[in-house]
Amino acid sequence: MAKRTIVSLPGDGIGRVVLEETIRVLNAAGFEADYVEGDIGWEFWKNEGNPLPDRTIKLLEKHKIGLFGAITSKPKDAAFEELSEDLKEKGLVYSSPIVGLRQHFNLDVCIRPCQTYTGNPLNFVRRGKDNSIEEPKVDVVIFRQNTEGLYGGVEWSDPPQEVYNALLSHPKFRLNFGNVPKNELSISTRIFTKKATARILRASFEYAKKYGYKSVTVCEKPNVIRETSGMMYKMAQQMQRDEYPEIELWNTNIDAQMMWLTKNPEDYGVIVAGNMFGDIVSDGFAGLIGGLGFACSANLGEEVSVFEPTHGSAPKYADYETSIVNPIAMIASACMMLDHINEKAISSKIKKAVAEVILEGKVKTYDMMKMTGKADVVKKGAASTKEMADAIINKL
Ligand code: IPM
Ligand code: MN
Repeated sequence: MAKRTIVSLPGDGIGRVVLEETIRVLNAAGFEADYVEGDIGWEFWKNEGNPLPDRTIKLLEKHKIGLFGAITSKPKDAAFEELSEDLKEKGLVYSSPIVGLRQHFNLDVCIRPCQTYTGNPLNFVRRGKDNSIEEPKVDVVIFRQNTEGLYGGVEWSDPPQEVYNALLSHPKFRLNFGNVPKNELSISTRIFTKKATARILRASFEYAKKYGYKSVTVCEKPNVIRETSGMMYKMAQQMQRDEYPEIELWNTNIDAQMMWLTKNPEDYGVIVAGNMFGDIVSDGFAGLIGGLGFACSANLGEEVSVFEPTHGSAPKYADYETSIVNPIAMIASACMMLDHINEKAISSKIKKAVAEVILEGKVKTYDMMKMTGKADVVKKGAASTKEMADAIINKL
């Protein structure tokens, strides 16, 4: 078979180092691929006014698979400040390039597994009966709709007159906001389509069926957000009845789910949610399995797929001479990539090596040692990013 080409998208800050170490692990595990680097992130925003240049889009169009590190995102005004002077007149507005990628390639299915590694000192523990300490095993896989809802980008401050007029036709708008001057309104829409909702629901049911999860939980807020959340839940009920009667359908509200997170996390299997709630609930569950150093994800479209750790670029750690961040989230994301392209044997090998290093507990990054992230953690016994990758490579 021809050697694969993977588009590596290091992005900003620590994205570069975790990606570099991950590629080292992939090579050591015998994954044969060429890597071409795609430009993405803050530097390209500042210098070109576009954090997601067309040449990067072209690379992904061609090679289909991206491994993404992390990017820095800043609010609109802060981003504008950092734009190179000669671009400031051009009316450019910053928007997150990872959100842009998801939208451009319609990477609408986002999968975020949160599964306990045995022996991880960061595993969630809870007080049980008689004050005993329990360490519930979390095995949750979150399906986040990745392109619509509050991330759809349909928003205004001081909306155009025709939008305002349309809003006035809604009785609730007239009642609750009818007296507010137009220029004092900011509006972000939450649009769900049946097509994308069906796709994320089906993906979640199929996954539950394939991997033997007993339940799919829709985590939304249909009692209040009746149209969008309501539609998702109704469609889930119908799909479950017609196509997946062997899988239980549960319904939780996002707020209650966050409260229950620490009460009974072991009860949940597959969770499916819209974009924003999926973002929230996936960070919540990630916290139970060690936090962002362990949280991996896949953004799947029909043509193109991009795999990324869900952590940010952690700019404060980016300039350390020796990088201290935990590369496991990135390595686990690469395993999701391998599974996706049917390199299951290599993926299993890497996952096993990661699990062994964690279980053995000799090599731990600063987060696993519960240290505050500072440049001196390596001197105090924490493994650097590279040392963690080395330990994993040694197990291979
Ligand atoms: C994530 C991140 C992104 C998101 C940010 C960086 C735009 O939080 O991948 O979960 O909100 O989707
Ligand atoms: Mn997030």
